[in-house]
Amino acid sequence: MTTPNHQSGAMRDMFARIAPNYDLMNRVMTGGQDTRWRRTVLQRADLPRSATILDLGAGTGNLAREAVRQRPSSHVAATDFAIPMLRLAQGKHPSPNIGWNAADALQLPFPNDTFDAVVSGFLLRNVTDLPRSLAEQHRVLKPGGKFVSLDTTKPTPHSLSPLIKLYMHKIIPALGRLLTGNGDAYTYLPESSENFLSAEALTAHLAAAGFRKILYQRYMFGTIAIHWGEK
Ligand SMILES: C[S@@+](CC[C@H](N)C(=O)[O-])C[C@H]1O[C@@H](n2cnc3c(N)ncnc32)[C@H](O)[C@@H]1O
Repeated sequence: MTTPNHQSGAMRDMFARIAPNYDLMNRVMTGGQDTRWRRTVLQRADLPRSATILDLGAGTGNLAREAVRQRPSSHVAATDFAIPMLRLAQGKHPSPNIGWNAADALQLPFPNDTFDAVVSGFLLRNVTDLPRSLAEQHRVLKPGGKFVSLDTTKPTPHSLSPLIKLYMHKIIPALGRLLTGNGDAYTYLPESSENFLSAEALTAHLAAAGFRKILYQRYMFGTIAIHWGEK
């Protein structure tokens, strides 16, 4: 592992605390849909046979593992600033095709034009400087390389909005307390999701960062979006 260049204390500590139960909470909260979304992320990346992939904010490494499953001769740089997350991921998915890097998404320790794809799951909503993180992702992609992000998104109001609010603000924090003993992190989740950009606004940020051919698809009653584009 390399050492992080940049510290972002509170956020990093929160992710370090929830690391042991992170996957269980994801499965329960999404009714198992997160596994399907991760498969779609790698399909959207349209990877060559021997791809070089950056999994940014890799957490417990599920996107990295899916990348190697879909492209067994690829190499993945799984990168996160929470070292307990990386340790857990390394133990769960030992693979000669995955390298584990402690680094901040705002200052990536990779040269320009390195990767065929940069993928992330539930990262962008958490970074403190979105334009800078997108600029870094654009910088390390090869020309023609693919960007794919999976994250929560602000849903457009519809008839189920009151139920979604109840689920986000009452049920998820209660599940978090019950299953992880950490209600705070699962209060942060609905708050950060509501404060994050709409799918359209994220598209505008991607265009401003220099990406082209940007598209997105919503899932789970409009609360989740996968965005993809190209350098
Ligand atoms: C919600 S988890 C997502 C983990 C995984 N990608 C997934 O799909 O389940 C967000 C991850 O992003 C990491 N993260 C947040 N901000 C970061 C930053 N600025 N630099 C690197 N990692 C960051 C956290 O440590 C955490 O592991």
